[in-house]
Amino acid sequence: MSTQGLGISAGAAFDRLADTYDRDFTSSLIGRAQRNAVWEVLLKTYHPKDNILELNCGTGEDALFLGANGISVFACDASQQMIARAEQRLDLSSPIPPIVFHQLPTERIDELTPAVRFDGVFSNFSGLNCIEDLGPVVAALSGLVKPGGTLLFCFSTRICLIEILYYLSRGQVAKALRRCKGYADAQLNGATLRVYYPTLRKLRRSFAPHFRLRSRVGVGVAIPPSYLEPWARRHPHTLRLLCHLENILANLPFFRATGDHILLCFEKVSP
Ligand SMILES: C[S@@+](CC[C@H](N)C(=O)[O-])C[C@H]1O[C@@H](n2cnc3c(N)ncnc32)[C@H](O)[C@@H]1O
Repeated sequence: MSTQGLGISAGAAFDRLADTYDRDFTSSLIGRAQRNAVWEVLLKTYHPKDNILELNCGTGEDALFLGANGISVFACDASQQMIARAEQRLDLSSPIPPIVFHQLPTERIDELTPAVRFDGVFSNFSGLNCIEDLGPVVAALSGLVKPGGTLLFCFSTRICLIEILYYLSRGQVAKALRRCKGYADAQLNGATLRVYYPTLRKLRRSFAPHFRLRSRVGVGVAIPPSYLEPWARRHPHTLRLLCHLENILANLPFFRATGDHILLCFEKVSP
């Protein structure tokens, strides 16, 4: 698993966040702003009647959005508690969207045997950063996706300029550079989980030869990371300005690689 040496699985670690995840992130100003940027790309990538596999779906916010747009979703997550929250939300939806939630760690995605291959695979906000070696996952996905199918994966970046400048301005050098060595240990309500920050070059290598990088866009380039939510609440106008600036910077070379996240679009090139 992704948590070598740290003694707890990703599923068990994220179980501890499930109850408060929507309050702390999904409904936060920054969480909403970053997710809106992802949703813009999602709707350009997938279309009504597509059949999508979602990895690391959390409490189901994106699956419910895709479902409301006529897209079928088979959504997986390692955390039983996250899946339970997602199912509660699905039960409250009317009309019931075409979504199935299923507890499964991404490392075991090869256990899926769908009747028809998926049109694409989506993962939002860093679930894939919890996996050290994506090679076996990519190989399994190549068997689950139709030729020409699209992967849309949102990773935490290795270099987040706002994070570096913010912590340097507070004299916290170790925190400013915490992602730069390629991994860091995150604290999730008392559980320690190792998170990996692969370079774009490493990701390209992991996805070849089955998938080719088609495009990339920054997410959280001008919009700050979610731990700055208290600041965002005090400065809603500035946050709105940053959302406009985000639209420009997110597509610019250099800047697009320096956000909190990067959204990578891969196309399946193997049969
Ligand atoms: C930061 S949350 C993002 C959740 C959701 N995608 C969203 O946009 O709100 C990361 C999610 O990845 C899941 N996750 C982490 N490691 C995983 C793994 N190895 N297999 C499956 N899910 C995993 C966690 O349980 C958690 O729900």
